[in-house]
Amino acid sequence: MSQRVEEAKKILLGNRKNGYTLPTNNKLYPAQWNWDSAFIALGYSYFNLDYALEELETLLAGQWDDGMVPHILFHDNDTTYFPNHKTWKCGKNIPSSGITQPPVIASILKIILENHQLNEGQNTRVVQILKKIKKYHDWFIKFRDPKKTGLISILHPWESGYDNSPIWDKPMSNISVDKELNYQRRDLEVSNSEERPLKKDYDRYITIRDQFKEANYDPNKLYDISVFNVVDVGFNSIFLKANKDLLEISKKYDLDFQNLHEFISLNENRLLGLFSKENNNFLSQDLKTKNNLNIPSITNYFSLFADLNNQELNKKLIENLKSHNSNEKYFFSSIDPKHETFNEKRYWRGPVWINCNWLVYQGLKNKDKEYSELLKNKTMELIEEKGFHEYYSCKSGNVMGANNFSWSAALYLDLALEK
Ligand code: DGY
Repeated sequence: MSQRVEEAKKILLGNRKNGYTLPTNNKLYPAQWNWDSAFIALGYSYFNLDYALEELETLLAGQWDDGMVPHILFHDNDTTYFPNHKTWKCGKNIPSSGITQPPVIASILKIILENHQLNEGQNTRVVQILKKIKKYHDWFIKFRDPKKTGLISILHPWESGYDNSPIWDKPMSNISVDKELNYQRRDLEVSNSEERPLKKDYDRYITIRDQFKEANYDPNKLYDISVFNVVDVGFNSIFLKANKDLLEISKKYDLDFQNLHEFISLNENRLLGLFSKENNNFLSQDLKTKNNLNIPSITNYFSLFADLNNQELNKKLIENLKSHNSNEKYFFSSIDPKHETFNEKRYWRGPVWINCNWLVYQGLKNKDKEYSELLKNKTMELIEEKGFHEYYSCKSGNVMGANNFSWSAALYLDLALEK
């Protein structure tokens, strides 16, 4: 056990640039990604707390005036990625994309703070970080739930982080793509096409992005005009937990974030309402068509991470989780292999992702100790056997996507060294 700890540290340091860390050392992702950075910060916290705080500070330095923290920050003007800052054209001091990603930063910070005694200078830095996270969460509440329903929307599949998940198949099928669309993908130059999203996915990603660009990324407009508007179970679960964690940390720092209470309880109630007794699982919602989206995605189990106040439901979720990968040696696959949309290799349509295992593990720890230990051991064993990759086959453990993958290294450090 833990035999790859030193290697994991080296991967993070090897991918580190000026104050932030690339998701990998190959050319697939040459910038700073939002949720990658948060996971990476947790990894650093086990051997360099200042790097951990700096990672978060650099990410939050890219926060827009309205509060949004972009999904990508292009610090060094690299244009080998598509879509790079020149095609997003957001016009910010730190060039960025014009959408966001799952807000895991507050939950990561809470773990870091629990593990460390901070000095005065570090505490001062944490206060600044917390204020920015609060502004980020307020942005979600204001602009991604303008009708005050208690559930927040994502307006682009890239915002979920699970880009080509089958959850988006139906909503994406309603998007009509401009025949003149003209762009050049770069991901296929450095990765295997059968492990990446399809052309039809990219056509739609760019169509939505162009719509946002046309509207100048005005957050007051995007919720209504976006051709894609989905209330996702996984994303709302992450946000609910993040708000609970932010509120708890704020008390220790004497910050008055009390107004979060109201959203938290509404969010929790509405999220519980997305559980379908009939289907015995959670359903996401396509707000454009008012259809439910019933896909057995591991991201639905981020609801365990949210620590829902309903023990009966949590028990049922764990029971279901145990059958998600009943026949596979490696788990968890992003999509249940028994489902028709499952694809062993294609990005978020089947492969095992370390961050998903980690989020589910966090949710299991206080609910089913034995199963959480099994998940932890299986996740560590997969990495110890195969190395630090972006994703893995649930059937063979074969590695896919980028190698020297930062969040796989960072989360391995947390699993191996957690207190
Ligand atoms: C990519 O380029 O595949 C990223 O996932 C988009 O955020």
